[in-house]
Amino acid sequence: MAGKVSVGKYLTWVLLLLGQLHGYKSCVEKERIALLELKKYIISITEEGESNSVLPTWNYNTKSDCCHWEGLKCNLKSKRVTDIAFGTLNLKESSLLNLSLLHPFQEIRSLNLSKSRFINLSAYKENEFNDDAFNKLAGLFDDVEGYKSLSRLRNLEILDLSSNKFNNSIIPFLSAATSLTTLFLRSNNLDGPSPLNELKELTNLKLLDLSDNRFNDSIPARELSTLRKLEALDLSDNEFSGSMELQGICKLKNLQELDLSRNKLSGQFPLCLTNLTGLRVLDLSSNQMTGKVPSALGNLESLEYLSLFDNNFEGFFSAGSLANLSELRVLKLGSLSNSLQVESTSSWKPRFQLNVIVLRSCNLENVPYFLLHQKVLRQVDLSHNKLSGNFPSWLMENNTELKVLTLQNNNFTSFQLPKSAHDLLMLDVSVNCFSHLFPENIGLVLPHLASLNISNNMFQGNLPSSLGIMKSLQFLDISHNSFRGKLQRSFVEGCYSMRILKLSHNKLSGEILPSSTNFTSIWELSMDNNLFTGNIVHGLRKLEHLLLLDISNNNLTGVIPSWIGELSSLNAILLSNNLLEGEIPASLFNVSNLLLLDLSANILSGGIPPHVSSANPVALFLQDNNLSGSIPATLLVNVTVLDLRNNRLSGNIPEFVDTQNISILLLRGNNLTGRIPRQLCGLRNIHLMDLAINKLNGSIPSCLSNTSFGLGKEDMSYDYDFKWGYMGSNFKDAFTLEQDSSPSMENDGRHFKSLLVLDPINWYFMHDTQTKIEFATKHRYDAYMGGILKYMFGLDLSENELVGEIPVELGGLLELYALNFSHNYLSGVIPTSFSGLKNVESLDLSFNRLQGRIPEELTELSSLAVFKVTYNNLSGAIPQGKQFNTFDIESYLGNPLLCGEPTKISCESSNIQEPDNEVEADESTIDMVSFYWSIVAAYVTVLLGILAFLSIDSHWSRAWFYIVDVFIHKVRNLLW
Ligand SMILES: *[C@@H]1O[C@H](CO)[C@@H](O)[C@H](O)[C@H]1NC(C)=O
Ligand SMILES: *[C@@H]1O[C@H](CO)[C@@H](O)[C@H](O)[C@H]1NC(C)=O
Ligand SMILES: *[C@@H]1O[C@H](CO)[C@@H](O)[C@H](O)[C@H]1NC(C)=O
Repeated sequence: MAGKVSVGKYLTWVLLLLGQLHGYKSCVEKERIALLELKKYIISITEEGESNSVLPTWNYNTKSDCCHWEGLKCNLKSKRVTDIAFGTLNLKESSLLNLSLLHPFQEIRSLNLSKSRFINLSAYKENEFNDDAFNKLAGLFDDVEGYKSLSRLRNLEILDLSSNKFNNSIIPFLSAATSLTTLFLRSNNLDGPSPLNELKELTNLKLLDLSDNRFNDSIPARELSTLRKLEALDLSDNEFSGSMELQGICKLKNLQELDLSRNKLSGQFPLCLTNLTGLRVLDLSSNQMTGKVPSALGNLESLEYLSLFDNNFEGFFSAGSLANLSELRVLKLGSLSNSLQVESTSSWKPRFQLNVIVLRSCNLENVPYFLLHQKVLRQVDLSHNKLSGNFPSWLMENNTELKVLTLQNNNFTSFQLPKSAHDLLMLDVSVNCFSHLFPENIGLVLPHLASLNISNNMFQGNLPSSLGIMKSLQFLDISHNSFRGKLQRSFVEGCYSMRILKLSHNKLSGEILPSSTNFTSIWELSMDNNLFTGNIVHGLRKLEHLLLLDISNNNLTGVIPSWIGELSSLNAILLSNNLLEGEIPASLFNVSNLLLLDLSANILSGGIPPHVSSANPVALFLQDNNLSGSIPATLLVNVTVLDLRNNRLSGNIPEFVDTQNISILLLRGNNLTGRIPRQLCGLRNIHLMDLAINKLNGSIPSCLSNTSFGLGKEDMSYDYDFKWGYMGSNFKDAFTLEQDSSPSMENDGRHFKSLLVLDPINWYFMHDTQTKIEFATKHRYDAYMGGILKYMFGLDLSENELVGEIPVELGGLLELYALNFSHNYLSGVIPTSFSGLKNVESLDLSFNRLQGRIPEELTELSSLAVFKVTYNNLSGAIPQGKQFNTFDIESYLGNPLLCGEPTKISCESSNIQEPDNEVEADESTIDMVSFYWSIVAAYVTVLLGILAFLSIDSHWSRAWFYIVDVFIHKVRNLLW
């Protein structure tokens, strides 16, 4: 019997156990069905063709346990769903979520609609903008419960709506979710004054994240004071402004983390914050705060993270006041005002061990003494100070974990490496005063370096031979030094991780890149302004990801190989100022992503390929060569800037096909003949047109008044500058710099021990090729670039053989700043209508056959600074007053019948007759001074400047917005 009983018991146990196991395996049927409904709904708002990728583990197999489906968690006992996270969705634009589908989940505790809190940077396709970073939900709805919908989910504590496109329409729904303790609204499209008044019922909130929206107005401190349980508040990356009246926030005695960075806050540091002794994180960086940094910060004994840089703080701050903050791990100070003086004497010893120190623009003259006691530093940024003497290599020796060391823009004179090998990832010592040889053994001592910037010093000698063993090197900038010699084989073969290589402005010589070059991942290669010689060799051919190639200003010879056109990623090709000869290969005009092609100042000959086929409008600089033949009529298709000055082009100006993109058209200094074609009257976006020094004849078409010179500034969207940015990938270590070794949550980039997302470190590189056009309007060159260039309008038809009268209609060219018709055979009078050239600063009509009076009405031209009518047949009284009082005799020479100031001829005494038609001044009496000026006044030059920099430690969103800008810019290019 006893045996039986025990067997029975055993069986019962087994059955129970089976039941238990079975129970764990199956979720509640009602919820399983509801989940499938939810999936069905999400598929209905998913982009066409993507439905297979929607929640693939949520399936119709009745045996499958929904508690194990992707993104779900269940309560172990009740088996009901507690957590739902959708992860990456590929939704249609402006999708709405039907909240009523969530009502079956009565025990739901956490609902996560964000893609993930962080953009997975490594998921970036190289330099491409990626809109998939958002889940793109725009709103919520519930046909049954309306705004009350979320109150049905009584256990809902965590709601994460980050990285969507939600707008303010969701606020009324949120105000019903009174059980919430954690609300993330980060990175959405919310705007206007903050909605906290409507959220004041959410009194259980411990964490509120409204960052990266477009909230404006002042910080809602009073409304916040009702959220008494608040522990973490993130209002960063908005447009909050006004002074920091934070009394309300200072009442939140439980507050541990406060992030107000990257807003437009002004005023003094709010002292009441120093009463919040529970604060662990305080970030006020990137605002416009003024006044002193208070020493009372030393009261915040729990502080782990303090960031105040990028403000306008001034006066003295003694770092010693922080000495007792034993928990401090991250300290970031600095001021844009340049008048913050951080002092650090040797008399105190810190109780903290920092991971990150940023003291940027703090007027430091010595490396602060307290750094001598730090052993676990991972990032040190002492840039933009007045540090001099020896480079502090001991920072590396003392801190074996150091990853990033930035000391740019100081006065260090002697660079030395640490004595033994170190794992540093990034070193920036640009803009210092090093003028010696660069250490040969860098590759041995810093073998893992990914980024090295030593630009803008005076380093001498050859490039160190050990560079070739730096297999991780992705960014190298040695530009603006005095390096000489050839590029070593070990370097071009060994550094195969290279992304961005800048060798510009040195004295490097030899062949540009040998065929064994192994830079197969490279994006940017800038070798301009060196002494490289020889042909453009095959070494370049393997660089298939290259975006920018700049080998201008060298001594390169031979022809431009047509295979360059096969490098289809190229955005910019700059080969100017070399000795390149032969024809322009047509393939160069067919690079599919081309934005900028500069072949100027070579000895290229032959004809111009007929047209450009790029996805973008292209800027084409072909000036100062020996190009001949006629200009192809299809050349302006897809071209926004065309510079053909100083070639040997002949024939007529063609009847251009498709002129909608052209904005700068420069044909000066060729042998063009025939009339100015009426097609040019259709230029709707022209800003600068220079047809000077040709043999154009016929009259000036009156329809030129229909061009954009007369139309006004409707389209200003085009930017002449070429910008792009890269975000770092394969540089993962840098992301984790500030992270605790055991982050509390699994998200990438999450700050150590922090609930909020704080300034995760990453790196990005920005490149900006600026187009600078110098257009002299006031007897001197003025450089017009960027925004100003957009507003610059000029027309130059000088030194041709134009005849006939100046069309009256041209008085309607309202936008013109500079007009030059000099050195032609124009006759008739100066049109009175020229008083309508409201913006004109420079008007040159000299060396023509104009007659009659100078219209009195021209005195209305209030911007006129240069006025030239020398060597015409003008007569009568010179207008007086306003701008005309500023012109001297140089403006009027060679018109003997003019009278009044500034000539010495009085109008009363001289007997003014109608002028006879003979030309008085013969060419030999040309006043050389005014001749010279008339040339200078019209001369147009185009310069390209290239700016580039690498930055880390800027918040990702700044880089992000940068990328967005670049994207918008490119789209505009496409649409324009
Ligand atoms: C800090 O708190 C005390 C006591 O509540 C108060 O008297 C004092 O004014 C506060 N200090 C600041 C700067 O607000
Ligand atoms: C750091 O280096 C300096 C200079 O070599 C030395 O005086 C100091 O003691 C070192 N500090 C630590 C913590 O090792
Ligand atoms: C740094 O160097 C520059 C140029 O050599 C000099 O003008 C400046 O006075 C120096 N500053 C300090 C603080 O030594």
